Amino acid sequence: MSFFASVEMAPGDPILGLTETFVADPSANKINLGVGIYVDEQGRVPMLASVREVEQALATAVRPRGYLPIDGLAAYNRLTRELLFGAESPLLAAGRVATAQTIGGSAALRVAADVLKQVAGAGAKIAISDPSWGNHHVIFRTAGFELLQYRYYDAASHGLDIAGMLEDLSRMEPGTVVLLHACCHNPTGVDPDAAQWQQIIDVLKERQLLPFVDMAYQGFDQGLDADATAIRLLAASGIEAFVVVNSYSKSFSLYGERVGALSMIGSNRDEAARLLSKIKQTIRTIYSSPSTHGAALVAGVLGSAELRDRWELELGGMRTRIHEMRAGLVERLAAHGAPDFGFIQSQAGMFSYSGLSKAQVHRLRDEFAIYALDSGRICVAALNRDNLDTVASAIAAVCR
Ligand code: LMR
Repeated sequence: MSFFASVEMAPGDPILGLTETFVADPSANKINLGVGIYVDEQGRVPMLASVREVEQALATAVRPRGYLPIDGLAAYNRLTRELLFGAESPLLAAGRVATAQTIGGSAALRVAADVLKQVAGAGAKIAISDPSWGNHHVIFRTAGFELLQYRYYDAASHGLDIAGMLEDLSRMEPGTVVLLHACCHNPTGVDPDAAQWQQIIDVLKERQLLPFVDMAYQGFDQGLDADATAIRLLAASGIEAFVVVNSYSKSFSLYGERVGALSMIGSNRDEAARLLSKIKQTIRTIYSSPSTHGAALVAGVLGSAELRDRWELELGGMRTRIHEMRAGLVERLAAHGAPDFGFIQSQAGMFSYSGLSKAQVHRLRDEFAIYALDSGRICVAALNRDNLDTVASAIAAVCR
């Protein structure tokens, strides 16, 4: 009898598993609106010119590949802090932010979850928006957290249920971790505005909850600073401790390089140093230290004034194209006689919670080889002028 005979088949991942099904689909004109990947007008994952420049310089330099420190490349961590908090942030001057390069945003989440579990102990609880990115639940459950939910999305208005959100947060026990999406909420594309963020932060502070911000799409909605509003308001709020995880997968189009970071904010320099020691201890037990290449690319761009300007232009181009695709989809849907999808234009980032039912999503896949998540989430960043009309006419057909 095999040692592994009792191993059960785990369910496929709802997002990356769908990509596996998509890849295996022999249809000639298949379209993947499932996974969150930005593709350009030609349907390709772009290689940014700013990134390419650093890549070429690295290739010419032929650098040895020793281990990075456990917490990664120092320049990458410094530049990440500056991008998240603003270079002039008093938090940085006070040394209150402990940052470690991680293997994408997912490892940042997992490492943070493990460190927070050590601090919170047996009663660790995390409140997650309803709905949220599916991996949030799995990561925190696996780390031993009890999962709670707060109201977020209002299906009737396709907008934010701010009253429900504030009410639910104000009932949380002190010490509960509250997971927030900084911008471009995944999966809904619905974000609080600055005034609503302030209301949320006031409740977090009053209830002594621990803010935990996930920022995977900085620059994909309004711009680098505007998309960091939640983080900037938290930094100014007087809240002493919070957590930020971020990813450069989308903003640098470096998905496979797995470039992310974890920043834990303590009340003073000494606390931040102790937090960093715990982060490093945790990383060492999972993957020892992060990899070199992606971080060198990001640090190379962010560390050069000229390349950073070029990157901001390229990022702005992706942002503009997404806005155009949103407008184009709404217009084409109307032209095909679909019900009103105007709300797609007020949603932010790569995703739109389309309101399509699971049955309609399955019809899209089976009859039109168009892939979306069962929740109705579609990746509008995967649309282009060539596939827009096909997608709109298929959605109109399944709505009939
Ligand atoms: C997504 O939500 O599609 C992306 O964040 C990719 C992923 O890892 O799930």
